[in-house]
Amino acid sequence: MTAKVIDGKAFAAKVRGQVAEHVAKLKADHGLVPGLAVVLVGEDPASQVYVGAKGKQTVEVGMNSYEHKLDAATSEADLLALIDKLNKDPKVNGILVQLPLPAHLNSDLVINSIDPAKDVDGFHISNVGLLGTGQKSMVPCTPLGCLMMLRDHHGSLAGMNAVVVGRSNIVGKPMAQLLLGDSCTVTIAHSKTRNLAEVCRSADILVAAVGRPEMITGEFVKPGATVIDVGINRIERDGKTKLVGDAHYESCAAVAGAITPVPGGVGPMTIACLLANTLTATCRANGLPEPKGLTA
Ligand code: GUN
Repeated sequence: MTAKVIDGKAFAAKVRGQVAEHVAKLKADHGLVPGLAVVLVGEDPASQVYVGAKGKQTVEVGMNSYEHKLDAATSEADLLALIDKLNKDPKVNGILVQLPLPAHLNSDLVINSIDPAKDVDGFHISNVGLLGTGQKSMVPCTPLGCLMMLRDHHGSLAGMNAVVVGRSNIVGKPMAQLLLGDSCTVTIAHSKTRNLAEVCRSADILVAAVGRPEMITGEFVKPGATVIDVGINRIERDGKTKLVGDAHYESCAAVAGAITPVPGGVGPMTIACLLANTLTATCRANGLPEPKGLTA
């Protein structure tokens, strides 16, 4: 079998188009322009690229982007004071603090100081608790993007066996919660899981979010299963730098029914979902109906 390629780049463009349409309507009907504040502390090159892309796409869908670039030596008190200001600013509907933060800053404390209603990353402890108890929350962007692609490909996910490899707070754990919310039978696997390949072969939906290049090979895939590859790893091969996922693409694609490529799969969906979350937060803050198909 050769897997169908799930085109995350095209899907993300469609999501951004839907967000832009809603934003235009919010402006025309209510005079509202959603605003997203992104806070970057320090000069981590990868983070600078992400933050630049976020700002650009925010403006492209008609929202206001507020970028706050702070020195790497910024004190916790100064960062908390900025977040407090953003929490109180009615023009700001979404706040994202780019991770990782420099080591002298307590990430948990910083994230939990964001107003949960503006926490468009869904990392605040309140949103984590709401998601875990099946209540309305802000949902982390990467797993939300994976869920949207899975729903689009399969329709209902009810009764499917899902295995999530990876237990991070950003992807693995919220992904498992979302799949459970869609009535999958969910297993979370990780580096200590025994017989990992066998566990993965029980999956109708296999989500690879381990952060290890090409670790999931075709032997881990049940024939016809859907493989969602969350990994983005830079490796050197044949003297060139190459981007690869956590799944070994060729061997997995030979067995799977559908697969997301790297690049062009899950990656583009993350920012699209950040914009969707900012729109959702704006609607909720103003007592307006939420956009359909753009939330969990
Ligand atoms: N760093 C890597 N991924 C993310 C993300 O989804 N949100 C934030 N805030 N930082 C990140």
